[in-house]
Amino acid sequence: MSINRLETNAFGSPESLAIMDHATRFAASLGLRFPIFQAPVGGAAGPELATAVSQAGGLGALALTWTSLEDTQRSVAEVQKRTQKPFQVNFVLAFEPKSLRCALEAGVRVVTFSWGIPAKEEIALVRSYGASYGVQVTTIDGAKRALDIGADFLICQGVEAGACAGHTKPVGDVAANHLSRADGAGGCLRRNW
Ligand SMILES: Cc1cc2nc3c(=O)[nH]c(=O)nc-3n(C[C@H](O)[C@H](O)[C@H](O)COP(=O)(O)O)c2cc1C
Repeated sequence: MSINRLETNAFGSPESLAIMDHATRFAASLGLRFPIFQAPVGGAAGPELATAVSQAGGLGALALTWTSLEDTQRSVAEVQKRTQKPFQVNFVLAFEPKSLRCALEAGVRVVTFSWGIPAKEEIALVRSYGASYGVQVTTIDGAKRALDIGADFLICQGVEAGACAGHTKPVGDVAANHLSRADGAGGCLRRNW
């Protein structure tokens, strides 16, 4: 089923269509066919799942927070061998993102950060490789800070998320006041729940 058909059938209201249109354009800006991001799951989901998601048109994910440099190189190379499509690498900022440079050197184009706001040096590093980055936020303050540091997109986690998110409010409360700014910033924030 084409995405237009899907929109018309399942998301018929004008508002829903506008959201889908925005989401589809945002996905296209990252080189994706569908606005579907794999959630990074450290220690559990590896190159095979990331490849499958990216190959299917979404954004596959490698969670690299606890991954050694050697395993980072190996995992990134494995995904790159299996698909030409974009994928993200993720770092939980409660820990030092030790393999960030290594992943960027290997050619990763999309980075996401969770559990914190990236430092200037980390942002500069990502930008020096011409990569995009998104920040997972769980509060309005976090959303503001992430937009202020120039994040390309936000990943909003609310109390609805199942695990490991550090939130206390519904996701609409995290996102609602920032939709228009997020549009300007590239916009995953635009109701990606
Ligand atoms: C075992 C486990 C490991 C996770 N590792 C990460 C991680 O490395 N980085 C991250 O941003 N989120 C991590 N998460 C959070 C998930 O990516 C996801 O955001 C969260 O589980 C909410 O989605 P859900 O409602 O589908 O569970 C982890 C979650 C679980 C259960």
